[in-house]
Amino acid sequence: MKISKYPLQGWNIVGWTVLIIAFIFLGIVIFHGINEQSMRIAIRLTARTSCLLFVCAFIASPLRYFWSNNLTKWLRGNRRYLGVAMAVSHGFHAIAIIGLAILITDPSLSNNHGGNLGYLFIIAMTATSFQSTAALLGHRNWKILHTVGMYYLWLAFIYSFSHGLEKSLVIYLPFVSLLAIAILLRSIVPLSKFFAFTFIRKDKLSKKG
Ligand code: HEM
Repeated sequence: MKISKYPLQGWNIVGWTVLIIAFIFLGIVIFHGINEQSMRIAIRLTARTSCLLFVCAFIASPLRYFWSNNLTKWLRGNRRYLGVAMAVSHGFHAIAIIGLAILITDPSLSNNHGGNLGYLFIIAMTATSFQSTAALLGHRNWKILHTVGMYYLWLAFIYSFSHGLEKSLVIYLPFVSLLAIAILLRSIVPLSKFFAFTFIRKDKLSKKG
């Protein structure tokens, strides 16, 4: 029998994410009660857990491309589950938003069109994260949906966290920097592939010539 090298992988990642975030969510409610403050704490916390999980999935491929070790192998192999775990975490973000909407009247909650579009992407991407549903969509459409969705979510995160920079550099700068490094890493891969291809071609041509 083949025993897996990593105990935390596949659906275990999703299961642990549900457990840990539900536990923290419950802790916030027990500690602060069900009120505006506790819902806002839960919204901020789940936005941050979602961002960390999102970045792990977002940079898995470029990290594996540049550095081949056990960690990058694990990240690349579990990219899909990290994405689903991010969706779960953002499900809790939605629960806290609904809680807040019930407790207070804030028109900005129902007018957050950018955020709502983000949720549509998350739902569509999660629904097509399984072999059967991905096959229904077709490879080309799947690639378009997941690429556009991923970059849209990156934008949604950096936009929201940048707004916090004025409030606290200590809290928000690490998130903004992490997202900036992540997009840099993803942009370098196609560039380095392009240059590697150009140099190899030039080298071959000069050898032929
Ligand atoms: C994919 C979609 C979304 C993403 C990526 C996202 C991300 C974020 C982020 C990064 C923050 C800042 C957290 C912090 O201050 O540390 C935040 C806060 C917040 N989000 Fe979302 N969000 C999304 C959708 C929504 C939607 C649809 C709503 C409401 C209808 C919403 C309501 C809020 C509120 C009210 C806060 C501020 C909480 C507070 O500081 O009191 N979000 N979100």
